[in-house]
Amino acid sequence: MTAVKCNPDPQVLRLLAALGTGFDCASKAEIEQVLNMGVDPSRIIYAQPCKTKSYVRYAAQNGVKQMTFDNADELYKTKQLFPDAELYLRILTDDSASLCRLSQKFGASLDSTAELLELAKKLELNVVGVAFHVGSGASDPKAFLKAVQDARYVFDQAHALGFEMHTLDVGGGFCGETFEAMAAVLASALDMYFPPHIRIIGEPGRYYVSTAFTIACHIIARRPVADATLGTTSYMLYLNDGVYGNFSSIIFDHQNPIPQVLQHGLEFKYGLRRSGYDTPSMTEYSIWGPTCDGIDVISSSCVFPEVLEVGDWLYFEDMGGKFACRLLTYSQTLINNQPTPSAQPLASMASATAMTLSTSAANLVPALFWVADLRGFLIYTYLFLRCRMGDIRYGLECCLRFRVRFLASYISLRFDAVKKKLKWGWIDH
Ligand SMILES: Cc1ncc(COP(=O)(O)O)c(C=O)c1O
Repeated sequence: MTAVKCNPDPQVLRLLAALGTGFDCASKAEIEQVLNMGVDPSRIIYAQPCKTKSYVRYAAQNGVKQMTFDNADELYKTKQLFPDAELYLRILTDDSASLCRLSQKFGASLDSTAELLELAKKLELNVVGVAFHVGSGASDPKAFLKAVQDARYVFDQAHALGFEMHTLDVGGGFCGETFEAMAAVLASALDMYFPPHIRIIGEPGRYYVSTAFTIACHIIARRPVADATLGTTSYMLYLNDGVYGNFSSIIFDHQNPIPQVLQHGLEFKYGLRRSGYDTPSMTEYSIWGPTCDGIDVISSSCVFPEVLEVGDWLYFEDMGGKFACRLLTYSQTLINNQPTPSAQPLASMASATAMTLSTSAANLVPALFWVADLRGFLIYTYLFLRCRMGDIRYGLECCLRFRVRFLASYISLRFDAVKKKLKWGWIDH
């Protein structure tokens, strides 16, 4: 199961679907997106223990039976809306060694699991498995061992009540650097505590997608900061993207994106690896987003041998994690990311996979431009035509509300952009 929330880019999801993964969806929109790709509902788990009622109804109407729960109200909700659901009891984990602690929000403690299972039995609901998540960016493999032991305990409780549980969902929490160590502990714990006929599923998110995207940003402004004592000048650089955009992972995911120089003047520097010897004098920078908010900071200190200027470009690798695609802004570009020999999980799955992901990154922004332009173009053309066709009342309204002149220039601007895209072959999207 791939955690859709970590990167809902359609091309990423299409690729993963083609590779045969299932999908962990957390909302109606995510379920809808995956179903619209032609994925069978049996490959989807609605892995949100506290669900919106209308989303449960949608899941029921579309045959998405697998879903998680961790409290009694959720069981009553399921009884009312989807009594045939296949339920997974999400249990609490020790996620204290993770970057994003999910057990603060979700998961039943072992004190409450017996009671919940009894209630499920009374309501004649179908509990088919246990789910857990050790927290994103987990660093202690023992968290998996403990979670598997706890899951075994709950399987036994369920068995005693007459449930035939058949699946254990080990969640996410994996990342490239620690994958081997985590997987080794998890695999031996599963061997020790679960017989082979129990189906094991996982919900990796960041592990699949984070290395698949690189973000390139434009330097839109620069401020020198002179240090009279040291006689040095450092700079504050302002980019066209920040924590309210694709760098939200700094705040929500505790990430530290590493800036690298993409273009300085006419020099293209992508992929250039520098040694300390060729960079004797360095200039220090702090890097900021485009908003007026003081928390919109991407890097409080970094150094480059170049004295960067407005108009130069920086890039940041491994930016495919959480929410990257949802928050794409107009003024920002994604560039191809070639797989590197280290920690490249998708590349190790299949090199073709990595290549396709690279292409998807490059195609995504044009796709968004296209959709936004087309919509804007149609809306404004419609209003403009209503004015021209003599719908006076409507026309007056348009004049007042939207200012026809502005509309006309907006249309021609938009039209130019659309024409440009047609010329560049973006119409594919
Ligand atoms: C239920 C669930 N499954 C899977 C994931 C993906 O986790 P990760 O990116 O750590 O693999 C998340 C992340 O928020 C989650 O909430």
